[in-house]
Amino acid sequence: MTHPVSRRSFVASAAAAGLAAPGLAAHRLQSPANGRDILRVGLIGCGGRGTGAAVQALRADSRTVLVAMADLFEDRLRSSLSGITEAMEDQAERQVRVEPNAMHVGFEAFQRVIDSDVDVVLLATTPNFRPMHIEAAVAAGKHVFAEKPMAVDGPGVRKVIAAAAEAKRRRLAMVSGFCWRYGNAERAVFAQINSGAIGKVMAAHTTYHTGTLSPRPRRPEWSDMEWQMRNWWHFTWISGDHIVEQACHSIDRLSWAMGDVDPVRCVSLGGRAARQGPESGHVYDHFAVIYEYPDGRRGFHTCRQIDRCPSDNTDYIFGTQGRAVVNGWTPQHELFDLDGRSMWTYSGPRRDMYQNEHDAMFASIRTGNPINDGEFMMRSTLMAIMGRMAAYTGQTITWEQALNSKEDLTPERLHFGEMSVAPVAVPGVTRFF
Ligand SMILES: NC(=O)c1ccc[n+]([C@@H]2O[C@H](COP(=O)([O-])OP(=O)(O)OC[C@H]3O[C@@H](n4cnc5c(N)ncnc54)[C@H](O)[C@@H]3O)[C@@H](O)[C@H]2O)c1
Repeated sequence: MTHPVSRRSFVASAAAAGLAAPGLAAHRLQSPANGRDILRVGLIGCGGRGTGAAVQALRADSRTVLVAMADLFEDRLRSSLSGITEAMEDQAERQVRVEPNAMHVGFEAFQRVIDSDVDVVLLATTPNFRPMHIEAAVAAGKHVFAEKPMAVDGPGVRKVIAAAAEAKRRRLAMVSGFCWRYGNAERAVFAQINSGAIGKVMAAHTTYHTGTLSPRPRRPEWSDMEWQMRNWWHFTWISGDHIVEQACHSIDRLSWAMGDVDPVRCVSLGGRAARQGPESGHVYDHFAVIYEYPDGRRGFHTCRQIDRCPSDNTDYIFGTQGRAVVNGWTPQHELFDLDGRSMWTYSGPRRDMYQNEHDAMFASIRTGNPINDGEFMMRSTLMAIMGRMAAYTGQTITWEQALNSKEDLTPERLHFGEMSVAPVAVPGVTRFF
């Protein structure tokens, strides 16, 4: 299933990327005596985020070189290489050195990158494959940057929890794409909240209300699998549904506000009110989850992907002595007293959080203290999955049930052929496994 990108197609893409100078691809990297002054980076999942993450990794540390890439589709890989090369400008010749035999496509392509002589892998495929890729990367001793969410089901969560623990044991970086944790303003305001500036946090409501993501109409030449993979947001087995794929950022901040402790159970309402047509697959378009904590506190999360409705991506956090309003886009990072008077607002620098996380990861690798985001990234991922499970089934789902769930969403056979679409989940009918 895997094959390196052909020489001919590489030359075409390299030319488009301004890389076609003769002999360049054959040029070997110069490594100093310790052999690892230059960190070799492999990119797995060459879409929008993977392309951005590769550029951020290369900008984070001038002694990094992108040497290998993998994607399901050659067109995605080639456009990513062009994008990375263009973005790296005059540093591209030195830091973007992906030889044709290091460009792999297909479902097994990830393993070829992991098996190559890379030090760091950037995992930015669609979410379903993250556990498989994280597990393989850690087993091979690679530092990992993994985009959110970390899994779409219970078996995937358990796999990543084990891999994150193993990464810690082996002193390998495990940095997550929960990028708000690396935002300057978010770090400052959550430090205020977690240190008691609004008293004890009793409840929080986070929102992720947006329009729909563009569906990709089917082309006649696409197999069922190719169509689903290219239109992946709309299929739960690939994305986890939008509460897991997208709203997990806001669920992560909900968890941050509540002090990063495991909730005991959740109740969740959701459905599909406005999505129509086969391109929209079977995912829901709205969820409302209530998380209950061991001490009786409650966390609320609502997310919606419906056009022509107001958007909101704000965290409303309520403490015994005040409240906080956090919105990274408007931006607002502000604390209020119980009478609604502003007590504190963030006024420091606002660097690109995506760049911040890569700067932090490479600095931690260089200093021998690799960051491990395992604990919070898995709690937030499982909270999102638990919210979907509760909405799909209509049942109250406990933390233990979600963690031990046997529902494995990955198809038995990953191949570009027939692939049926599961029916839309019906609360009260869809069963929990
Ligand atoms: N942290 C953030 O703010 C942020 C922003 C955007 C996306 N993301 C996350 O990044 C991930 C990718 O999102 P995107 O917007 O780049 O999507 P995308 O569709 O642009 O890219 C995904 C790429 O992965 C490839 N792919 C899928 N399965 C693969 C496999 N098994 N092996 C190799 N390649 C595979 C696809 O072909 C595609 O090129 C998602 O998990 C998404 O949630 C995070």
